[in-house]
Amino acid sequence: MKNVIRLHDKTFRVMIPAAQIDSAVAAVAERINADYRDKQLPLFIGVLNGSFMFMSDLMKKIEFDCELSFVKLASYCGTCTTGDVRSLIGLNNSIEGRHVIIVEDIVDTGESIEHMVRDLESRKPASISVCTLFFKPASYSKTVPVEYRAMEIGNEFIVGYGLDYDQLGRNLKDVYVVTD
Ligand code: IMP
Ligand code: MG
Repeated sequence: MKNVIRLHDKTFRVMIPAAQIDSAVAAVAERINADYRDKQLPLFIGVLNGSFMFMSDLMKKIEFDCELSFVKLASYCGTCTTGDVRSLIGLNNSIEGRHVIIVEDIVDTGESIEHMVRDLESRKPASISVCTLFFKPASYSKTVPVEYRAMEIGNEFIVGYGLDYDQLGRNLKDVYVVTD
């Protein structure tokens, strides 16, 4: 593992080594296993691109029958008078009556997850919960419950394990924090 890396114009140092991420993923998977074991075919929905690595490791630790799918939140401008509107793309099948677990890489202000939960709620699932690898409590300003938080961090900017800085760093197995 390199202790210091450079991506674009910024320097990052190791903050959370892969082994520590693995323990946090195992702990959150254990909670989900306990809560969903007896529920009818839960559906995990990963939010691309950031959640791909977390989703992959999490799913290997899930011990009940389940389905999984990925979606993307696409920003578009329209007439540019209503601000940033995001639409959910990639969800082709009905989720009516299903127990849905949204899988995110990081919940920061909560803007994205709120959009996502509101959209999914309108499709009448049996239940929705949110599972995120990282949660920034000091930044979160929404009321949507974030049930499963593998790790909580401060307001620092991190990369690695799926998270990017301008598209770089997603492939790193450790998590790094910006230093400048
Ligand atoms: P939110 O809508 O403010 O909760 O932000 C969610 C999105 O911002 C995440 O899905 C990430 O794409 C991005 N983001 C927020 N904090 C970080 C970070 O520390 N590193 C990388 N991406 C981040
Ligand atoms: Mg994301």
